[in-house]
Formats: sequence, C-alpha cells, structure tokens
Amino acid sequence: MRVSAGLVGGVAILLGCSGGAYAADDPLAPTGRWTAVTTGQAAKPPMGWNSWNAFHTDVTEAKVLDSAKAIVDSGLAAKGYRYINIDDGWWLKRRTSDGRMVVRTSIFPSAAVGGAEQTSFKPFTDRIHAMGLKAGIYSDIGANNCSQAFAPNAPNLPEGTVAEREVGLYGHTDQDIKLYFGDWAFDYIKVDACGIRAFGPDNERVKAGQYRALAPLIDIKEIRRTDIPAVRALYQQVADALRRTNPDGDYIFSICAWGSADVRAWAKDVGNLSRTSDDITPSWTRMLANFDSANRALYAHPGSWNDPDMLFVGHGDFDEHHLTEAKSHFALWAMLSAPLLIGYDLRNAPQPLMDILGNSDLIAVDQDPAGNQAVLAYDTDDVQILVKTLSNGHKAVAIFNRGLAPTDVTLTAGHLKFAATAPVTLKDLWTGATLPAFSGETKLHLDPRQTLVFDAAGARALPNGLYLAEMPGRVNPAVDGVVIPQPDPTIHRMITPWGGTTDDGEPPAYTGWGGAQADATPYRQTLRVDGKTYGTGLGVLANSRLEVRADRQFRRFTAEVGVDDSTFDADDAVTFSVYGDGKLLTTSKPTRFGQTAQTLSANISGVKTVELVARGASAKNKAPTVVTWGNAALLTD
Ligand code: GLA
Repeated sequence: MRVSAGLVGGVAILLGCSGGAYAADDPLAPTGRWTAVTTGQAAKPPMGWNSWNAFHTDVTEAKVLDSAKAIVDSGLAAKGYRYINIDDGWWLKRRTSDGRMVVRTSIFPSAAVGGAEQTSFKPFTDRIHAMGLKAGIYSDIGANNCSQAFAPNAPNLPEGTVAEREVGLYGHTDQDIKLYFGDWAFDYIKVDACGIRAFGPDNERVKAGQYRALAPLIDIKEIRRTDIPAVRALYQQVADALRRTNPDGDYIFSICAWGSADVRAWAKDVGNLSRTSDDITPSWTRMLANFDSANRALYAHPGSWNDPDMLFVGHGDFDEHHLTEAKSHFALWAMLSAPLLIGYDLRNAPQPLMDILGNSDLIAVDQDPAGNQAVLAYDTDDVQILVKTLSNGHKAVAIFNRGLAPTDVTLTAGHLKFAATAPVTLKDLWTGATLPAFSGETKLHLDPRQTLVFDAAGARALPNGLYLAEMPGRVNPAVDGVVIPQPDPTIHRMITPWGGTTDDGEPPAYTGWGGAQADATPYRQTLRVDGKTYGTGLGVLANSRLEVRADRQFRRFTAEVGVDDSTFDADDAVTFSVYGDGKLLTTSKPTRFGQTAQTLSANISGVKTVELVARGASAKNKAPTVVTWGNAALLTD
C-alpha cells in the first residue's frame, strides 16, 4: 500500500515526539547543548569525485575505477580527495520477490556475484577500499529517481515492471540502507528528491501508466505547496537508518533537495551536507547562482555543510581554455567550506586543471578545522570580498570580480577585522608569492572574472577574543525566527534547460531570505540600532535562539543588542537573554525600534554552550522583527 502524503506528515509528528527534537513546547527554551549534526564523518567538508558531472547516467565501473586510480596516481588522494561516489545510473531494478535492489551488471560487471544475492557492490567497494579510498552511492527519497523524471531518453534507466522500476528509498529505507552500508560497505550516500517532486498524478508518464503516482511533497516553485515536515521526516528516517546501520559512525549523509522544502532551517540537524540550489551547469551565470545560494555562513558547521553542488572544473566555462573562471569557481567553493567533489573525467585531465584541483593551499582553506564558512565583507554586483577566519587566526580572503571589466579594488584591514595601524601580510594562494606588507589598505587589480585569494596575517582588531561573525562554524541558528519561508530574491532566476524562454524560468528555491546572517541583517542590510551602525555582529529575527560553541575557551560574552532599524514590525518589544549551559546569565530590558542598544555582558568561564535568545512580545512574527547582536563577541579576559 502506498503511504499518502498526509500519513507521512503524521510520521513526522510521531518521530518528533519520540526523538525529542521537536518535543519542547517552547522552541526558545535553552537546551544547554549544540543541536546541529555532529554524527557521520563530516568534521571537514567531504572531498572526492562523483560520476554525474562527468558521465551522467552513462557511467561504468571502468570509468569509476579509472577515475579512482587517477585520483591516487595524481596525488589528489593524498591531498584529501577520498570519496569516490557513483551517482544516478547504477541500478537495474528492485527485485519484487523480496525488495532487494539489483545492480546493472552490464555496466558494473564485478557486481555479478550470482547465487541468491544475484548482484552485489561488495567486490566494487572492496576495490575502492583497497586503494585507500571510500565509496559512495546514490538514491532518491521517493520511489522513483531524477533521470526517470527528467531524462527519459538517458541510458541506463531502471528496467522492468512499474514496481521493479521503483528504485528509490520510499518504503524501503531500512532495507536499502542496510544493504548499501551493511552488506555492500558503502561509506557515503547522496539522497535526491525527484521522487517526491515529479511524479504527481498529472505527470504525463504517470498518466501513461509508466510510473505510479506519488503526491508530490515538494513543489520546487512554491514553498507554500511544499509539505516541509513530511520531507524532513523522510530524510530523518534515512538519518536514523544510517545511524543504526553504522554504529562506528563511518558514513556521510548528503541531502540533495536543491534548497527546497526549507532545508535551510532543518538540514543541518539531519544530514552532513545539503544542497542549496538546483543543479550546477558548466556556465558562469549558473555557477554564480549556486554560489549565491550558499551565502549562509551561519548554517554551516563542522558536521553539517552548505552544498552549492559539485565542481564543474574542466567543463564549459571552466575548461582548460577558461582557467581564470575555473580558478574562481574552485577558490569560491573553498571559501564557502563547500564539499569539493570533482565532476571531471580524470583519465585525460590537462595538467593546468589538475593543478587547480590540487592547489594544497586552497584545499587547506576549504578543510580548515575551524569550519568557518567565509562571510561577505564587501558586496556589490561586480566585486565581492569574502573573508574566512582560519583556525590559526589568519584570514583567507577572496576578492572576486564577477563582471567582465577589469577593475581595481581597495582591500582594507577592516575587511579582515585586523587593526588598521599594524602591518598586514598577504600570501597569494595561487602563486605562493608574499606581497609587501601594508597597513590600513592596499590596492589590488582584478582581471575580468578573476578571484584573487590570499592568506592574510595581521594584528586582530579585537585582540582579546573573537567576534561571533568571525566564527560562524561555532554558531548554530537552532531557531532563526523565520515564520514564512521566502526564496532569496538576490539570487538570479535561471532559464530552465528544458523550457528555455518558453518556460517561466526557474525561481530560486532556497528559502534563505530572513535567515540569520553574520555581519548583516537577515535581509542583508547593514546592522544598525537607533542610528548606530555596527560593522560586525549577528543579524537575526526575533523569536530566535542561537547556539554558540564556546567549549570552555572563553571568559566573557559581550554584545550591544537592540531592534534593528530595518525591522518590519516597529512596535514589537524584544527581550535578549544569554544562557550558559542552559542557565540564564543575563537579560536585557524589553526594547523597541528606535531605542538605543543595551550592552549585555556575561561571565562564561567554564561554559560549553552559550545560547542567545531574542524573544519578541508578538510571537507571530508576521511582519518580522529584525534584531541585532551588535559587536557580539566571546572574550578571553
Ligand atoms: C539531480 C541532482 C543531480 C544528479 C541528478 C541525477 O538532478 O540534483 O546532482 O544527481 O539528479 O539524475
């Protein structure tokens, strides 16, 4: 029997109660702990290779193994690229007698093991593991998959009866996860969502009887028509099955719902990485859209990363004839702490492309253990400056020319949160050259589409601690106050590849607008309370709770708090409270739009988790109340 969308929604509620994740009546009540995902093997963004961008469904065992070999032989494996992931195309069918998945042995010959099993990926994963690498597999959260939905003429679509062609996890989650991880020994799974998006009763192929209907839970164009709790509950089932099947915790769970279903709010509590946009293509403008969709530093942490999609270095606008663009794409992904998954046929890769993918300094930026995704320090249509605080106190800084005109840019010590009077040294991470030290500011020249990227060393503007905006990897917007999820209007609408200009285009699906931001309001305004501007701080909506990992390393929390001048609701009264490991440390007086910021200071010696709660009097937030934690910092004295 098919489970209806309504019933799946019901499962969400039950799961919530038994798992405790949604059990608290008051979402702003302190939990005294860090609640974003730390399970799985994603303390750093995953690195490796995936078959999709290189081969689509025309994948073969030989192509995958040759790429794995190239990764080892070229030295990329030693630099951290270790997951070898098969994407769509591997499946033949689901055996209806017992529901076991059958591998397409015509393209994965080693899977033809015979006997009762019939097919097994174990010989394949054994070979990958013997090379010192890890193996990844691909599935869908629905009954059917993406190529069945969008590429009816692609090679290697599942075969057989309607039921046999239902190769996704839907109704088989425990069985499939046990098979993939327990029996076949995979280490990574990417779970797509086309099966709950594209097989509604109106679909032509469903009407023709090719596929069974599944009431879509995701409407990619309209968040209002998406059943967010139901989507979350299905992905949570996978997370639970992965935990059960992998008691050693050696797995990675990649959520591929393209930023839909409000994954901004919950994916970091469920999976290790989550796509923030629809598929990247090898075009400059699409790369920009994917990059922009991941501009959410506070939603990425060790254990749970923003995923702007796999690398397209080597193809189209990023091929060996477009090395400036390829370098920009790679550098930007490293700044975002994005997963670095190569999508190129490495069997004959030109050396300049291998050099980009193998740039150890940029890999180190991506993999920095602090896990701080870069924050925008300067933002225009043409030039952006991104700054990522590294674990050694240095900054990685990328100066990015999005446009087609060469331009000169002034980089200031302030962009880096370095003191203006002390010397700043820049090491170019492309050339290895160290530039003459500057103080205050320096001028840089950018070619069209160029990204300069440096390791910057200087004296910190805040010598005795860190601003929270410098450590997004330690800040979890457990509740960000967004009541009505909205697509981010700053992300460009794309032409759909299948519809061209006869379609109405592809609006951004990532409902990040209004989410918590570092050094900006949730709507990307400058932080400002009663006319006073804050160069740093956290911007969030009222009725929010931010968790901060202090890890007993700091002694004091300080901030200047108030309702931001950009607030929509100008009447709401907001109270700001600071908790240390669940205990109230300090609280503000209720404050409104137009009132001067109040200074909060709390002793956090020995505190592991600080929680910052901004509670509005109007719980509904229909017209959002914007609040600012100005100059918010953890201090060591
Ligand atoms: C979706 C995903 C892609 C890829 C394809 C496979 O479009 O977003 O990354 O996995 O499906 O069909």
